[in-house]
Amino acid sequence: MAVPTEPATRAELPAGAGAVVLPEPCLLVIFGASGDLTRRKLVPSLFTLHRENLLAGGFAVLGVSRTPYDDSTFRSMLEEVARRELGPAFDPASWTEFADRLFYHPGDILDSDGFPSLRDRVRSLCEERRIPGNLLFYLSLAPKHYAPAVRGIAASGLSAPGEAMPGFRRVVIEKPFGNDLADARALSGDVSAVFPEERVFRIDHYLGKETVQNLLVFRFANGIFEPLWNRNYIDHVQITMAEDIGVGTRGESYDGAGAARDMLQNHLLQLLALVGMEPPISLSADDVRDEKLKLLRSVEPVSPEGAGEACVRGQYTAGKIRGEAVPSYREEKNVPPGSLTETYVAARFTIDNWRWAGVPFYLRSGKRLGSRVSEVAIQFRPAPYRLFEETACGPMESNLLVLNLQPDEGIYLRFGAKSPGPAICVRPVQLRFSYEQAFGSKSPPAYGRLLLDAMLGDATLFPREDIVEVSWTLLDPFLARWRENPGRDLYFYPAGSFGPREADTLLSKEGRAWRAP
Ligand code: BG6
Repeated sequence: MAVPTEPATRAELPAGAGAVVLPEPCLLVIFGASGDLTRRKLVPSLFTLHRENLLAGGFAVLGVSRTPYDDSTFRSMLEEVARRELGPAFDPASWTEFADRLFYHPGDILDSDGFPSLRDRVRSLCEERRIPGNLLFYLSLAPKHYAPAVRGIAASGLSAPGEAMPGFRRVVIEKPFGNDLADARALSGDVSAVFPEERVFRIDHYLGKETVQNLLVFRFANGIFEPLWNRNYIDHVQITMAEDIGVGTRGESYDGAGAARDMLQNHLLQLLALVGMEPPISLSADDVRDEKLKLLRSVEPVSPEGAGEACVRGQYTAGKIRGEAVPSYREEKNVPPGSLTETYVAARFTIDNWRWAGVPFYLRSGKRLGSRVSEVAIQFRPAPYRLFEETACGPMESNLLVLNLQPDEGIYLRFGAKSPGPAICVRPVQLRFSYEQAFGSKSPPAYGRLLLDAMLGDATLFPREDIVEVSWTLLDPFLARWRENPGRDLYFYPAGSFGPREADTLLSKEGRAWRAP
């Protein structure tokens, strides 16, 4: 069989080649396969790809973890979860077909002697399924195990292609990539000793969401928004990721991280980069990521003295979500009763460049908030001459553009319109676009798109090492401040509210207010 070459990325396809590129057959080896992520996200997303005929015929999954499943118990366990996750979209006949792609191998990649039985299993599966040696490793493990797992892959002789098994070797790593800047650098060093950067795919699942991918399309495929997308017209930007769920079964790992590491360092800063960056010169992975990097490097670093002014943290106490009583964070399973970990974070950043000087970007995310919504809100400046200011209906509101990322995927623009009648009365009205109405379906799962891209070797939607590091640089002043005094800037908010009142001050001291979600 011919040795496969690296497949083309979407950006390298000749014009008119169409958007759908099928990946080469590969074996996806998931370490930590008995965990929640595999069951709830990875396998249901792969199942969706299978049903859409986006997987190569030989594609297979090899789940690896210490739990003593065999192929059959692994398949049944996954089927049960997929049925639950997909609800009415679960199709038993397609599942039976898909289940033939799922295999399991018990054992521990962290074993210091390597994992020879894994190598044998991988080889035999590749032969059986005619996979030309392409291996995609997925580290669905606790972050402290990333570096040992990568060393384990190398020790097992699986990290580099050879004569017996040619093909590509890539590794997908779940966030968080490190715990702070120093830790992220050390991890990069360990990973790059085995996998060079072009073979490392760091997952930030927000980047796989259709509505997030649409940010660049909205900005750069349309002629009318970009001329307004700057300090001359925009007063400020608010980026919100509000969740109504708590920490669920993740108490232990979440408590070691907190909202700043869990959401701000990655998802929120990635959105900030997409909203603020300049147009890339092409859609190639590096051209897009170079622009994101440039933007993040232009974010004004917060000084240690200014850190307290620029960030507020919170932790939820008991409360009610949609009328139902929910416990406080400290009462959640595996959370220490005196925990000082934040479940809410809000921060203010400014970008020191020609386009954005003086425009604040306010970012916030929290758990157990009153509703679930992720959005980017662009607040425009008021009209320069306020001809209608004193009309019968009182003060006017400025234009607002909201890119709703989830759950009501869509975009709306608020503007003033004359309300019918003899008096001049300006009322805010909305122009709305809904993905579901326009395209007739809900967006596909983010993980599916990202797994497909990793199989194709397209890294556009994966944060590069330098981007991850600059994001940590932006967080480090806050982390240092909280390390010094772990209770600092931490305020309590009842579940079901919209975060601590102190977070309102971040905006109110500048004459602004958070949008009511
Ligand atoms: C993950 C965080 O990255 O994103 C979770 O670790 C959070 O804490 C989740 O719940 C939110 O993702 P989504 O897609 O449900 O908004």
